[in-house]
Amino acid sequence: MVLIEKDIDWRLRVFDSMSFPTLILRPDKTIIAANEIFLKQINAKLPGVVGRTCKEIFRRHFSYLYFPCSEKECPLTKTISLKTAQSVLMKIKDPDGSERWEDRVFSPILGDDGEVKYVIESFRDVTRIKTLEKMYSGVWELIDKVVQSSVQAIIAADRSGTIILMNHAAEELFEYSAENTTKLNIEDFYPQGVAREIMKKLRDENLGGRGKLPLTNVHIVTKSGVEVPVEMTAAIIYEDKKEAATAAIFNDLREKQAVEKKLMETQSQLIQSEKMASLGRLAAGVAHEINNPLTSILLYGNLMQEKLEKDHPLRKHLDYVLEDAGRCKEIVKNLLAYSRQTNPSKKVFQLNTLVEESLRLIHDQKLFMNVTVVKELSERPIFINADMNQLCQIVINLIINALDAMEGTGTLTFRVYQDEAREKAFLEVVDTGSGIPEEHISKVFDPFFTTKELGKGTGLGLSMAYGIMEENQGRISVKTTGPEGTSIMLELPSAQMPKDVLFLSIG
Ligand SMILES: Nc1ncnc2c1ncn2[C@@H]1O[C@H](COP(=O)(O)OP(=O)(O)OP(=O)(O)O)[C@@H](O)[C@H]1O
Ligand SMILES: [Mg+2]
Repeated sequence: MVLIEKDIDWRLRVFDSMSFPTLILRPDKTIIAANEIFLKQINAKLPGVVGRTCKEIFRRHFSYLYFPCSEKECPLTKTISLKTAQSVLMKIKDPDGSERWEDRVFSPILGDDGEVKYVIESFRDVTRIKTLEKMYSGVWELIDKVVQSSVQAIIAADRSGTIILMNHAAEELFEYSAENTTKLNIEDFYPQGVAREIMKKLRDENLGGRGKLPLTNVHIVTKSGVEVPVEMTAAIIYEDKKEAATAAIFNDLREKQAVEKKLMETQSQLIQSEKMASLGRLAAGVAHEINNPLTSILLYGNLMQEKLEKDHPLRKHLDYVLEDAGRCKEIVKNLLAYSRQTNPSKKVFQLNTLVEESLRLIHDQKLFMNVTVVKELSERPIFINADMNQLCQIVINLIINALDAMEGTGTLTFRVYQDEAREKAFLEVVDTGSGIPEEHISKVFDPFFTTKELGKGTGLGLSMAYGIMEENQGRISVKTTGPEGTSIMLELPSAQMPKDVLFLSIG
């Protein structure tokens, strides 16, 4: 027992048996007591320590790498003024050159007047903890870097589903970048009920083993409410066999699915154009074979008609023969157009004119019944180089198709516009009719495909249009169709303004 002041009570005996080096100081910073272990550590005797200030002793016996001993920083001063325990971490270099960390705790001892009478200062070697802390933070930093730099979105949540980790890719995918994500719950990231479903699968022994979710396709929900298709894997993290957290890794499937869709579209376009080409050859063959005998039927039939008297009993029969032969001639003409066996006579004209001319050519206004016609024509002239008559035939067929689909009421819109960058001109014929059923879309350009009753349609209108458009370096397609109506789009290369028009407009 090393005491030099009589008024220190028996409790100081405890102090000497403490396993940490400990000092008792007066508020003026002079040491009044030091326990055995402290004296042993600095290899000094008590008289060399007591009565001296802490600063003096520390300077003499320790080599500090960090020494907070200015009046402002002094933990002893703080303990006295705040009357609460203070601690300070010090880095010390031992005589053998090794470094160690010391945690110094300053505890106030108050007198009866409530003022600090003494301060106990104890020294704890925390080098091991500090080394472990450094190692741990190094490992953690590495893991964090790996997780953060992953191109896959990674999130982790605690047992209650609160987000505890979200890497950059996840912030981007879920659109929560640069925000506090710790308030989010895993349920915010999925459509209703999906998070629960995933947890159920995670706990299912039969699905990839307990605590593991094999690659699964789901939809996640971004901050803006967009549902994104992803493939994901997930795992439950166990601590002492109890569920502590969950982690999940996501791959955005949007790009992959877009590429797949494009590939499928290209494939079906290829199949479609191959089908059209072989149908075209067949149609051309049939049309040529029928054309010659048909021409003679019409020729000799007309000759007979001229020769027969008006009231001849066979005259009526001959009229029927000629009428039906004329219908066949029309079919052959359309088949030849489909198989691109016509010789277009092209000239440059305005796309707006095509709409006006086609409407003019439909003499029978009764066909329109209660259908409203809207013309969204182009204000700036758009020119195309094509066979005007052939194109009118196409537009007339589109109008009749649209009127048939609207059954007397609705709106028929003509939309003319241009994509100047791609040098393309467009005409859309839009109706508010019943739409084309999905299973028919790939067939509507086939010759003889019709849903109309016998005698109403031959199913050659769109196939003839397909052939003519190809012959004019253009394209016809079903742009949109559904219960709200159909839009059929004609696309043609836009042409230069003809010189005479240029001359006129300048003049
Ligand atoms: N605007 C449209 N709305 C709904 N269905 C349409 C439309 N246009 C075409 N169709 C469908 O496509 C089929 C084929 O059209 P297409 O013009 O080739 O032949 P058609 O009109 O039936 O006969 P044709 O034109 O030879 O008189 C139609 O029978 C119809 O089922
Ligand atoms: Mg038609």
